[in-house]
Amino acid sequence: MFGLNTLAKVAGELRRDIAAVHDRDPAARGAGSLEIIATWPGVHALLSHRVAHALDEVGIPIVPRVIANLSRTITGIEIHPSATIGAGFFIDHGMGVVIGETAEIGNDVTLYQGVTLGGTGFATGKRHPTVEDNVTIGSGANLLGPIVIGHGAKIGANSVVIHDVPPNSTVVGNPGHPVRVEGRRPEGPDADWIHLPDPIADAIKGLAGRLEALEKAVADLGAAAGVETNAPLGQVRPLRAVRGPNPAGG
Ligand SMILES: CC(C)(COP(=O)(O)OP(=O)(O)OC[C@H]1O[C@@H](n2cnc3c(N)ncnc32)[C@H](O)[C@@H]1OP(=O)(O)O)[C@@H](O)C(=O)NCCC(=O)NCCS
Repeated sequence: MFGLNTLAKVAGELRRDIAAVHDRDPAARGAGSLEIIATWPGVHALLSHRVAHALDEVGIPIVPRVIANLSRTITGIEIHPSATIGAGFFIDHGMGVVIGETAEIGNDVTLYQGVTLGGTGFATGKRHPTVEDNVTIGSGANLLGPIVIGHGAKIGANSVVIHDVPPNSTVVGNPGHPVRVEGRRPEGPDADWIHLPDPIADAIKGLAGRLEALEKAVADLGAAAGVETNAPLGQVRPLRAVRGPNPAGG
């Protein structure tokens, strides 16, 4: 039942959440705990969620949703009362964060503004991500479906992640793909997500090369016959020069 034990639990979690702000927000240097409680929207949203979740867990109807909705109105951070969130959670800035009903978040996780831990459709049951301990999720990242984000992973800003993420890896891009696993670039034939082959561009490049050769041959024939042509030769501009080392290591 909701009582002193629940309040003590929420107070303990709040203490650790405020310590997380001190640890992980460079802007909190010199700010006291009271200042953080009064002015950090991520802390407001989290505190509201802790209360809403505790009420939701003991089966109190409507009130948890009302608290979540009020918190969303004030902070711009939407957390479903049923989402489970571990200790030391920190949402920096916060506006636009959405955390769905069946999301599970471990300890010491950091989220920036605009992160979505969402579902992928109208399915019921477990449909939101599970985020393990010590994960950092950059601003604007969308993590969709009942995927698992392994402990210690970093998700780059604006990534779209729809597959499980290995522990201690860095995942970036859309679709999100690992660019570091345990501090090393992933290797192997399927690991180079940045320099993917483009068969259509290759075919166009081949045709353009043949066209250029033909134009040159025609121009040479014309010149031999005393006919001048000023038509420019066909050219293909490379789409994008490949820069940096190949992450596939090959
Ligand atoms: C992903 C992130 C955590 C960096 O993690 P990291 O493990 O230190 O990774 P690195 O910086 O070594 O980058 C690894 C590779 O991913 C690329 N990368 C990093 N962040 C990226 C992003 N958001 N989108 C696309 N590529 C990204 C890097 O260019 C690098 O590419 P390379 O393999 O060709 O060298 C960081 O870039 C990020 O996005 N942080 C979020 C910060 C944020 O949201 N701030 C908001 C403050 S208000």
